[in-house]
Amino acid sequence: MNIIWHSKSKQYHLYNDKISYILGVSPVGELEGIYFGKKVHDKEDFSYVEYRYMLPNVAVDPDTESYSCELNRQEYPSFGTTDFGTEAFDIELPNGSRVSSFTYKEHRIYKGKESLKGLPATYASEDEAMTLEVTLEDEVARMMLILTYTIFDRYPVVTRHATFINNASDVTKLRKALSVCLDLPDQGYQWMQFSGAWARERIPQIKDLSSGSVLIESKRGVSSANQNPFVILKRLETDEFNGEAIGFSFVYSGNFVAQAECDTFGRTRMLMGINPDRFTWPLEKGERFETPEVVIAMTDRGLNDLSQTYHRLYNNNLVRGKWKNQPRPILINNWEATFMDFTEERILSIAEKAKKAGVELFVLDDGWFGERNDDFAGLGDWIENPEKLPQGMKGLARKMNAMGLKFGFWIEPEMVNPDSNLFRRHPDWALSTPGRKASLGRHQMVLDYSREEVVDYIYGMLKKVIADAPISYIKWDMNRSLTEVYSTALPPEQQGMVYHKYVLGVYSLYERLRQDYPDILFESCSSGGNRFDAGMLYYAPQAWCSDNTDSIDRVRIQYGTSYGYPISSIGAHVSAVPNQQTGRNVPISTRANVAYFGTFGYELDLNHITDEEFEEVKEQIAFMKANRELLQFGRFYRLRSPFEKDQAAWIVVSEDGKRAIFGLYCMKSNVNMLPGFLKLAGLKDDLLYKLGEGEYYGDELMNLGVPIGKLGSGGLTTGQDFISYVELLEAD
Ligand code: DGJ
Repeated sequence: MNIIWHSKSKQYHLYNDKISYILGVSPVGELEGIYFGKKVHDKEDFSYVEYRYMLPNVAVDPDTESYSCELNRQEYPSFGTTDFGTEAFDIELPNGSRVSSFTYKEHRIYKGKESLKGLPATYASEDEAMTLEVTLEDEVARMMLILTYTIFDRYPVVTRHATFINNASDVTKLRKALSVCLDLPDQGYQWMQFSGAWARERIPQIKDLSSGSVLIESKRGVSSANQNPFVILKRLETDEFNGEAIGFSFVYSGNFVAQAECDTFGRTRMLMGINPDRFTWPLEKGERFETPEVVIAMTDRGLNDLSQTYHRLYNNNLVRGKWKNQPRPILINNWEATFMDFTEERILSIAEKAKKAGVELFVLDDGWFGERNDDFAGLGDWIENPEKLPQGMKGLARKMNAMGLKFGFWIEPEMVNPDSNLFRRHPDWALSTPGRKASLGRHQMVLDYSREEVVDYIYGMLKKVIADAPISYIKWDMNRSLTEVYSTALPPEQQGMVYHKYVLGVYSLYERLRQDYPDILFESCSSGGNRFDAGMLYYAPQAWCSDNTDSIDRVRIQYGTSYGYPISSIGAHVSAVPNQQTGRNVPISTRANVAYFGTFGYELDLNHITDEEFEEVKEQIAFMKANRELLQFGRFYRLRSPFEKDQAAWIVVSEDGKRAIFGLYCMKSNVNMLPGFLKLAGLKDDLLYKLGEGEYYGDELMNLGVPIGKLGSGGLTTGQDFISYVELLEAD
């Protein structure tokens, strides 16, 4: 890895042994893009990629009379001079002008990577990454712009973000400040997004690009289940194992936009950042604004390779603390077993049975506090309900510990019910617009986390509950979108800051709790997967993937999630049948076979299953304990897509290739078909793997494939819906 500055040509070459990112100072002083892709040799000057044409209808710079930003790739395009594409930022000067031009001033190259203040970001030691900071200046606006690029040594990854500093004595308004623009020289890409809704999150969708824009966004205050802040540009021929693709992952949990714009000259401009809609950030003299980070990864070896890069980077350089690369405890959560209707006795009976099965951690979900007996009341009152927890959280946690279980509980700290003591005392602490009705979501309102005193208050309440109880885990939920966004604490000219300040408030509370309780495992949740993003992973290493616990739907949801996020981050549980969301009756073996490829746990009362099933649960837990390191941190390959076929399959392989586990799932039976073969991936050609009774070379398993008819008792020939197989392969 290195970053070279060619002072004559004024070009930078960031490279490692896989990729090159080349950019330079253009003849007009702005930053222009030269190349991003597979590694190329270094050279003093790549300016032959520049276009110096006087084309009809193209505006050129008056000094050079031949250079147009429109014809050349821009690193962080402004609007108002010679580029007419979508701009990366927009500043409004005190005189009302929105034209800007930032030109090169200086740069800094250093080893390692600096953190972003108050924001989540990947981190790296001096051996792991190098960083380039290019400072540009707009003399008219009296503003500075710093564009930051980090290249990682081990990964084909460059991260980027931007920082604005106002040096003028008047207030300048930042109306748009995206994190990244990457201009690509052609349009031969397909756009892949991960979309959905509650209970059907992150379903891959592929669109062809053509003249004009493809754009996804969130305006809900959270990254959302509707559109995930992760996008792939892939070549038409790229599949899971071959071909080029570039990923863009936004390390942020609020409103965002991702856009690919195809111009009239056959090029693609990719943009990503905070959604500029409803965003205005006034900068006083000396103030700065730092955008969140985008992680750009590339591959020329297919989508599995791209996903593996994100998995490894996020496990090693985003997740922090005790739980980094740590196999996750097997938990039981009482939500689907009791909802809010429970007593301590009932909870303990669920826990006792779970302990007998080998479960390690009990999670007490919603309903333990205030007047919370249904979802109309109580949010905001983080004090134990003595009827449900007679000796408080401390008492219950101790009983759990005495039983040999770790213990954790559920919170939804960003919310308040109008029917709560908190709201009665501080109605202005909820987001709402003066004079207008406040919309409710699940009968609740959103606390104004742009206000420090609100965050402080919730922090204080939570600390009281956590303080002297032995707490090992916290599930942090967030169950509605933001509406009527307005902070009564801010003046009119600062209302455009509220969405982002809200996210910063959430991050600050997470950070404080993390610092105070470094051993606690946080799991983020937002009605399931409504805020499953890289930003959250910085604070909470795992996320409840979806409220849909039906394992057949979960195959699709977890498959889609795996494109951008590691298996160790995917919260997945075995729940009761018929499934509460879909009514499906799926065998308990398949329910576990899906949940193994995640953090693994149970979401039911094990007292209510048959003795035979209970014996099976014991075996499932023993299997997970023996293999969770491989399942959660192994190299994961998608093999068969549930979106294309009636079967799905995936495999995880250990780093040395000697152990692997694959899962094969029958989503819908096809009667009177031959069972066929499943081609595996990631194995070593020459190793002889034991699989069930047989032995097979890696090259056999990857080329002839596993004979599906030999799996289990008769394999998928029985034509049953919802059967599945999880098999362990081992070589000496
Ligand atoms: C939504 C979550 O996704 C569920 O798992 C559960 O925690 C409920 N909220 C509790 O209200």
